Amino acid sequence: MSRRRAGILISGRGSNMAALLDAASDPSYPAEIGVVLSNRPEAPGLERARAAGVEAVAVDHRAFGRDRQAHERAVDGVLRANGTEIVCLAGYMRLLTPWLIARWQGRMLNIHPSLLPDLPGLNTHARALAEGRTEHGCTVHLVTEDMDAGPIIAQSRVPVLPDDDADGLAARVLAQEHLLYPKALALFVAREDLGGGTLQPVAGPP
Ligand code: GRF
Repeated sequence: MSRRRAGILISGRGSNMAALLDAASDPSYPAEIGVVLSNRPEAPGLERARAAGVEAVAVDHRAFGRDRQAHERAVDGVLRANGTEIVCLAGYMRLLTPWLIARWQGRMLNIHPSLLPDLPGLNTHARALAEGRTEHGCTVHLVTEDMDAGPIIAQSRVPVLPDDDADGLAARVLAQEHLLYPKALALFVAREDLGGGTLQPVAGPP
């Protein structure tokens, strides 16, 4: 079975991206990472990707003003030129328009730092503590138009400890994210392959 080609979208440090790159450096891993793309040229993750020998591209959203879809068309162009089959959002801090979501429907994954459907949105660790939750964690899910609400692929659970603060809890969840994302991507690919490879080639320009 040939490896699936994934592209990763980031906005910042890229520690989940690094976990995916590490996993994909094993030739037996079912996906290879073809390109890393950031909407912020200063994202430290870009250098990290280049150091790993992976093409790393910045498509600065600021150059497109308020035209979100024009930015997304540029992002989509880079992904398509690279032969991307699966997109992994890894700390990509842009709200996506329905256009890009539809374009990658069923093959765009995201990692979110909570046990979805609980705690969608931002500041999940502080909110988990404020709500007195005893359990927290992270989720890899398919991206749909409803934010942080697409079908769940995999989750990891983390107990909330009595003396946790948001930073400590975030660090323990992040360690689980780094294990979960590579496993979830492999699971997603395996499921696709078992289903006869339902991943369709990327459609031509609309
Ligand atoms: C992670 O906590 C991820 O769950 C969230 O954004 C953060 C990205 O961190 N979506 P990194 O850039 O992967 O280090």
